[in-house]
Amino acid sequence: MRAYYRSLKPLILWREAARPLNWVQVFGRDAPVELEIGFGSGDYLVARAQQYPERDFVGIELEWEGIQRALRKIAGSELTNVRVLLGDARPILGRAIPPQSLTRIYSLFPCPWPKKHHHKHRLFDQRQLQLLNSKLHDEGEFYLLTDHEAYFHWVLSNLTDTGFTAFARTVPPQVNTKYEQKWLAEGQTRFYELTLRKVQHCAVPLLEDVPMETYRVKTFDPAHFQPTAISEDVHVVFKETRYDPARQIAMTRVVVVEDDLTQHFWIDIVREGDEWRIRPAQGCGVVPTVGVQRALDAVRNACQPQRSLSPAPNNSV
Ligand SMILES: C[S@@+](CC[C@H](N)C(=O)[O-])C[C@H]1O[C@@H](n2cnc3c(N)ncnc32)[C@H](O)[C@@H]1O
Repeated sequence: MRAYYRSLKPLILWREAARPLNWVQVFGRDAPVELEIGFGSGDYLVARAQQYPERDFVGIELEWEGIQRALRKIAGSELTNVRVLLGDARPILGRAIPPQSLTRIYSLFPCPWPKKHHHKHRLFDQRQLQLLNSKLHDEGEFYLLTDHEAYFHWVLSNLTDTGFTAFARTVPPQVNTKYEQKWLAEGQTRFYELTLRKVQHCAVPLLEDVPMETYRVKTFDPAHFQPTAISEDVHVVFKETRYDPARQIAMTRVVVVEDDLTQHFWIDIVREGDEWRIRPAQGCGVVPTVGVQRALDAVRNACQPQRSLSPAPNNSV
């Protein structure tokens, strides 16, 4: 395959971008927008964007490798009507995709997570179907194709109060994606197709950013700095801390897990005058949430166990 320059232009940094996204600004035109969840290598996303140049296409994919492959294909086809987002579709839908802004959502061969104790990872439970509904225009549709009969029935069982009517059938191979080819090669020739048409709107409010409080503290002792992990409704784990004595800058790496959103980022502790300023490091693409605030609080507490604090004059991150 010819090596194409992989322009990053189609990649939307949804954590840094103003949310919810504005499709007219993103694409520079007002056109119907379709969304693919878990596009893998981007074969179908790109094929559909080529087939329908009058529509715009957004793809969400959890793995960076898939994003890279899709970027290569988008560049190779010189498409201007495709954008891709890296991450878990659930928080992206919850925070970044505007309500009632999509004509069609589709997901081809999503992971069926066949083992019972993995079912919690499955996409398209009742809550997520309501979320998908809230993103669709009236009469919009969600299209699902799967190789896995038990998963197909599980999605069907989640339809109550989702505002969809369902059309289900088995179909021959038709989308020519990597996973369709994989199952075909293993001898599977019929797949399970589910089309959910929106008949009633489910209003699911967008999750909004939490205003962040950053801190200034009087003391910071890098030799004894040990922030405490949190394991409650929100999970906060501190991974490592680096300190540069020459510049008097410390950085601590943290993982925050809350609902479907997992964030990995660094928190700065930087000497400024006779104080230390605590805030998320620039460039980490942090979505401001309750969990991020708890992480900042834990760092503050570890700096000054006695809590002789003064609030930062400017609380913005
Ligand atoms: C079995 S593969 C199918 C890929 C492609 N649709 C195809 O037909 O070849 C499932 C894809 O969904 C992605 N995925 C899994 N969970 C996801 C999530 N929560 N959000 C976004 N993508 C996800 C995986 O990274 C993987 O690329």
